[in-house]
Amino acid sequence: LTSEENSGVRKNITKIEVADPGFVNFTVSDYFLCTNLDLVLSEKGSYGKVLSDTRRKTVVEYSSPNIAKPFTIGHLRSTVIGDAVANILEFNGYQVFRDNHLGDWGTQFGKLIVALRKLGQGSLENNLAKINLAENPVKELVALYIEFHKLADSDPSLEDEGREWFTRLEKGDEQARELWQKCIEWSWVEFSRIYEQLGVKFTENEGKGYGESYFEDKMGEVLEELKAKNLLVDGKDGAQLVFFEGNKLPPLMILKKDGSTLYATRDLATDKFRLEKYGSDIWVINEVGAEQELYFRQLYELERMLGWYKSDQRVHIKHGHFRFKEGKMSTRKGNVIWLEDVLDEAIKKARQVMEEVDKGSELTEDEKQSLSEVVGIGALKWNDLKGSTQREILFDWNEMLNMQGNSGPYVQYTYARAKSVLVKAEVSRLSELQYSEKVDLMEIVLNEEERAVLVWLWRFRTSVERAATELAPHLIAGYIYELAQRFNTFYNKHSILKVEPSERRAEVLRFRIALTSGVAEVLKTGLGLLGIEAPERM
Ligand code: ARG
Repeated sequence: LTSEENSGVRKNITKIEVADPGFVNFTVSDYFLCTNLDLVLSEKGSYGKVLSDTRRKTVVEYSSPNIAKPFTIGHLRSTVIGDAVANILEFNGYQVFRDNHLGDWGTQFGKLIVALRKLGQGSLENNLAKINLAENPVKELVALYIEFHKLADSDPSLEDEGREWFTRLEKGDEQARELWQKCIEWSWVEFSRIYEQLGVKFTENEGKGYGESYFEDKMGEVLEELKAKNLLVDGKDGAQLVFFEGNKLPPLMILKKDGSTLYATRDLATDKFRLEKYGSDIWVINEVGAEQELYFRQLYELERMLGWYKSDQRVHIKHGHFRFKEGKMSTRKGNVIWLEDVLDEAIKKARQVMEEVDKGSELTEDEKQSLSEVVGIGALKWNDLKGSTQREILFDWNEMLNMQGNSGPYVQYTYARAKSVLVKAEVSRLSELQYSEKVDLMEIVLNEEERAVLVWLWRFRTSVERAATELAPHLIAGYIYELAQRFNTFYNKHSILKVEPSERRAEVLRFRIALTSGVAEVLKTGLGLLGIEAPERM
């Protein structure tokens, strides 16, 4: 090293030790940590972000609810996790395409059309009138669907009629198409409301995503290719299947005996389309529940056999189920949990909690309402993201809204607290002491709590990187929670704005304000990666 380099190293590293099973431990200097804090403050929201020009192209497909069926709590998981993964990848320099593989095609629409035409209110006209007025049209459709199945148990001709209507739909029958289109519109009434509340967006197909129906006319080509590659085998009853080498996986059905296509047929067409649209090196991530694990293994294996994708180009993030704490949710209606009710409940409960915490709040009614949304939705999302995605998660309102525990509100509150310190600093004209007036970094001697915070700020980049490689938002949640705790420990032990008079008072003040501002910045960025808002006041 030149003597200049040498002194650079000395400035940044204070100790190098060999530790037992063969580690080398480096201890970074206070100067180094303060320089990093400087970086946090100058880069703000981009601190930790990768700006790369070799951005790997990735499709993240998530949410994917089904038309004319309830948006389930499983779809909520997919939505929240998929969105966070997409954010994290983008932050790491990937070029991300956000897709929603809506279940908007399939034989169930034949049944639904039959039900619309003669069940429910008895006639199509009356059914349409009722559904058009309904606040949640999907509820009406689900009721019709249930009625259909009840009646079909004793009258199998209904099933035949359903099949017939599906064939008509496939052939482009005008009335069938119109009713199916209506079902899509009705479902979007609910979906848009949910996405809006969750603050989740998609980029593909003008924000609606490429649903299954988009691939209706693209399946023929796939069938041809399967045939040409000798992959389709006649099943006993006339269905068409693909078998896997040595039966390592069960056969996958591609065509039913009546010649109709399946979920898998549409997925194949989707993935072929993706290769064409985004390029053969595209990376495709499906965020879908663990119950579809076997199916995705079959799909990926088949796509490998076709020579489409290499196995590392396909990932299934399989999220675990929700478990409900005893005492169940009051929102259960029949067997269906309506997500809207869950979101409303979260917001209501967040409001109660906030009112308990802060009785004399000077917020206006509007502010309170929008804050309850931020906190309630944040609590739900945090609950979904704080643990490894594959684990099943517990649905327990108390834990979700616990201001003292590992919860969304706890972290949001820490952020708001940091912000309020910064506002006070401003108000009491301490702003003159703000960090912009550079502190001489070499002069600063950190106490233990300050050091703990600064070390953790420095670790942000590493966490962000690991979260991307492992597709693991919980690593970000864990990081933020730790940062919040370290900041609160510091906050409880040292006064930020009332520093003991001494000759270095101004410097210490300035430094502590800088630290607070750095923590706020990184908390906000981290929460943002999880799709959670950071409220300025709470
Ligand atoms: N709509 C499906 C469901 O609700 C999920 C779709 C998942 N994505 C896919 N490419 N198959 O179960």
